[in-house]
Amino acid sequence: MDLKEALEIKYNFFQDLQSSVIKMKSLHLSLRTKIILNFLIVIILGGLLSLSLGSKLVKNTIISQAQAKVRHDLASAWMVFHEKLKDIKDIVSLTAAREGLRKAIRNNQKDILLKYLGRVRKEYGLDILTLTDERGIVIVRTRNPELVGDDQSQDEIVKRALKREVLAHPQIVPLEELLKEAEDLAHQAYMEFIPTPKAAPRPENKETSAMMLKAASSIVDENNAFLGVLYGGILLNRNYEIVDRVKEIVYKEEKYKGREIGTATIFQHDLRISTNVKNENGQRAIGTRVSKEVNIAVLQEGKAWIDRAFVVNDWYITAYEPIKNIDNEIIGILYVGMLEKPYIDTTNRVMLTFTIIASLCVVLLLVLLYFSTTKIINPLQKMVEATKKISRGDLSHRVEVSSKDEIGYLAESFNQMTADLKAANEKLIEWGKTLEKKVEERTEELTEMQTHLLQSEKLASLGKLAAGIAHEINNPLGGILIYSHLLLEDTSKDSPYYENLKKIVKETSRCKDIVKGLLEFARPKEPEMSLTDINKLVNQSLAIIEHQALFQNIKIRKLYSSDLPKIVADRAQLQQVFTNIILNAAEAMEGNGILTLSTSLDANGQHINIQFTDTGHGIKEEDLRRLFEPFFSTKEVGQGTGLGLAISYSIIQKHQGTIDITSQVNKGATFMVKLPVNRKVKHE
Ligand SMILES: Nc1ncnc2c1ncn2[C@@H]1O[C@H](COP(=O)(O)OP(=O)(O)O)[C@@H](O)[C@H]1O
Ligand SMILES: [Mg+2]
Repeated sequence: MDLKEALEIKYNFFQDLQSSVIKMKSLHLSLRTKIILNFLIVIILGGLLSLSLGSKLVKNTIISQAQAKVRHDLASAWMVFHEKLKDIKDIVSLTAAREGLRKAIRNNQKDILLKYLGRVRKEYGLDILTLTDERGIVIVRTRNPELVGDDQSQDEIVKRALKREVLAHPQIVPLEELLKEAEDLAHQAYMEFIPTPKAAPRPENKETSAMMLKAASSIVDENNAFLGVLYGGILLNRNYEIVDRVKEIVYKEEKYKGREIGTATIFQHDLRISTNVKNENGQRAIGTRVSKEVNIAVLQEGKAWIDRAFVVNDWYITAYEPIKNIDNEIIGILYVGMLEKPYIDTTNRVMLTFTIIASLCVVLLLVLLYFSTTKIINPLQKMVEATKKISRGDLSHRVEVSSKDEIGYLAESFNQMTADLKAANEKLIEWGKTLEKKVEERTEELTEMQTHLLQSEKLASLGKLAAGIAHEINNPLGGILIYSHLLLEDTSKDSPYYENLKKIVKETSRCKDIVKGLLEFARPKEPEMSLTDINKLVNQSLAIIEHQALFQNIKIRKLYSSDLPKIVADRAQLQQVFTNIILNAAEAMEGNGILTLSTSLDANGQHINIQFTDTGHGIKEEDLRRLFEPFFSTKEVGQGTGLGLAISYSIIQKHQGTIDITSQVNKGATFMVKLPVNRKVKHE
């Protein structure tokens, strides 16, 4: 991983971390709340759905059970109704069959008949009991003895009895017939309508006719001769025997909150003439009428009604069926019903219980959910804490989650990630340190290079100046030298001018040498490059000057490397450099010491190092920097020109090499020439 990569990873990581921490903060709902809310939504929706379905189901079950019961109760009511009808029929037919009765009729004993029939009527609780002759003309009327002689042959029931039948049917009896039988019966039947909510409107406002259970029987003697018809009956208006008996049989004394549950009613058409349904005053609600929907279904369409219905002032679960007369015409309704309220209350109670249980379950579920989410959320919170710490720079923080599930794995990889991050971070710090070192090194190199650069610039400008002067001086100097030579030749050795002239020639020659050197330095020739063996060249350079007296007492050591490659160089120029350095060394040792010459290839094989080490007086620290300056010399006037090293420097520079000097005062100096190996030779 390199530095840039590591930096990038680190940067991205912290950015991600920061943004996710920000996100976490900006969310309004915690994870727990969200989980619980989601569950709640499901539970509440499911609960509401099952509650509404359940309530419908419970209601249907309970109500339909109640309806089945009411249907059954209506059958019981019909039984009571028909029993009563049969009772009347039995009384009438048995009485008609009595021998005494037949005898009295045959003998026309009206007093006996009246007395006997009157007793029978009272004994059996009949409202009327009347006897007609064989044509249907009334001969005895027990309830109203004064009125006889009227024709009853047109009455549907009497008409059939005249044809020797015994029969009993409900019948509507009009007012004038009632009045004939008895005036108080008309009073009993008379009923004014009481305004009833939901009843169908009717043009009338009172009822004067009555509904009667009427039976008739023919009277035939032992010879099968027809003697007449006996008919009797009971009025149903304001007669509560049947309805109360129905209630007693079917509902007993069942009550709900002080109200009787079961009710039965006989309607004459739509009018309640006999009932145990109570009005708000607690009295029987006779005079009220049936609701419009029942009216239509039962009275007009002749169907049974088994459903809820509004009865007088409350809702009941009801069963209605039409009452028909002998001609099968609908003349009224038989009704039974139960208060709906107990059933509704039962339904509600069931639903309430159900709701309470469901709510308890929800609460329990929420508690469970709370604890189970805690198990999930605690480690997550730990992790959030950890990310916060890490984003603050604490990379050694570890998340402690030991669970062996997905969250455990998450924590594990989280820890792994921070460990990696820490390692990367440490590497970065290390990188930083080495970088500093490298920068230091580079800076040092740069400063050195800059000094070199300054040096060569300085040399260049000095060189230009020197060259200018040298050029101007060279010609006059030539003239002086020629003419002083001529003068010297013409002057005899004894002349007092001879010595002085000789000095002029000598000094002028010296001047000429200096100017020559200057010109060489300032306008050096282009190097002539050729493949050069450095060891050989160093030897040649030494050979030129070795024979001088100066070298008499100098020991020379040679440490040449044998595997130097040949390099491309200007031999003459390099020889000049080496000669210069060797001469300087000899001069520094003042002809006494050790001169070590060594050559070597540097470690990477790129450069050849040529080292000249002497044991001379060395170079002072402050002089070191000035050594390559032209005319810098520590030697006495006339001894050194100070151009040797300046020229050497420019030659080595042209060869793209360097000269380095190290020295210790009084111990010696080392000059190291470094030359590159890889240089193409132009002409090779
Ligand atoms: N090997 C050496 N030991 C001590 N000083 C030296 C050595 N070589 C050169 N120098 C110093 O460098 C100066 C400059 O040398 P150079 O340029 O050859 O001029 P010159 O020899 O004419 O003085 C010398 O005067 C001397 O002080
Ligand atoms: Mg010199």
